[in-house]
Amino acid sequence: MRLAAFLSLAAAVVAVNACVSNDDPFEQWHGPKAGDVRGPCPFLNTFANHGFLPRSGKYITHKDLADGLLNAVNFDANISAFLFDFAVSTNPEPNSTWFSLDHLSRHNVLEHDASLSRVDAFHGHADIFNQEAFDETRSHWGDIVDVQSGVSAIVARMKTCKSTNPQYSISQLGEAFILGETAAFISILGDFQTITVDKRRVEYLFQNERLPTTLGWKRPETQFTTDILIGNLQTVAVEYRKRLNSTVLGKRGEGYAERLMHGRARVL
Ligand code: HEM
Repeated sequence: MRLAAFLSLAAAVVAVNACVSNDDPFEQWHGPKAGDVRGPCPFLNTFANHGFLPRSGKYITHKDLADGLLNAVNFDANISAFLFDFAVSTNPEPNSTWFSLDHLSRHNVLEHDASLSRVDAFHGHADIFNQEAFDETRSHWGDIVDVQSGVSAIVARMKTCKSTNPQYSISQLGEAFILGETAAFISILGDFQTITVDKRRVEYLFQNERLPTTLGWKRPETQFTTDILIGNLQTVAVEYRKRLNSTVLGKRGEGYAERLMHGRARVL
């Protein structure tokens, strides 16, 4: 009798544990299945692979994005609203209230040349990770990716793309996105205060489209706010201007990123 009670208790504990881990999206990774879509953003693809966003990658609403970014990486509601406005602008259907990850690949809406891990639209699809492009990017990073090495990789990719793509172009918005993407990935995967991150975490996420929990990464405890994003983007922009002091962004001056954030997609 006692043995039977013990065995049923043990079975219940195992079932509860299985339930706990089965419900944990950080543990629940599945790549896309037939019919699912993914896009040019390694992070949003990753969140869909974990189920923080619809696994199909389709019909993502404001609520889906806000909940997903909050639960996956502790983004506050303002940044999510800001990013949703950009994202929904890529849906070819006017006045839509959702977007799908592959909409983000529409060239020169948000998607830009000189990506860190994708070929330019002239050469192929931005939805697909490209190892050669990413190998060039990571060859400029040390063991720790910081503002200096992050910007070195950006500038190197720009030079390569410019010399190999006869239709190469970057809009002001594209340039701001490039800098924001680097500010964001360092801050989210590493330390948002020192703006540094272990390179292995970044490589893992880009190459597997999976959160690097096996490398010790955890959902940030501090909420990621618009102020943190603007501050870190400005720091990246200052370094970028030092390297390319004749860019449009350089001429626009220190407040560019802030104006962009507060003016939403209405760029000067
Ligand atoms: C945790 C939040 C996010 C992070 C850390 C992040 C980071 C990144 C990074 C690093 C890239 C560059 C990939 C590359 O150059 O190969 C990228 C690309 C992109 N992301 Fe995100 N992203 C985030 C959320 C979003 C959201 C919410 C949107 C919706 C507007 C978005 C839109 C894009 C687009 C359109 C690209 C393609 C840019 C291109 O390379 O042409 N991302 N993102």
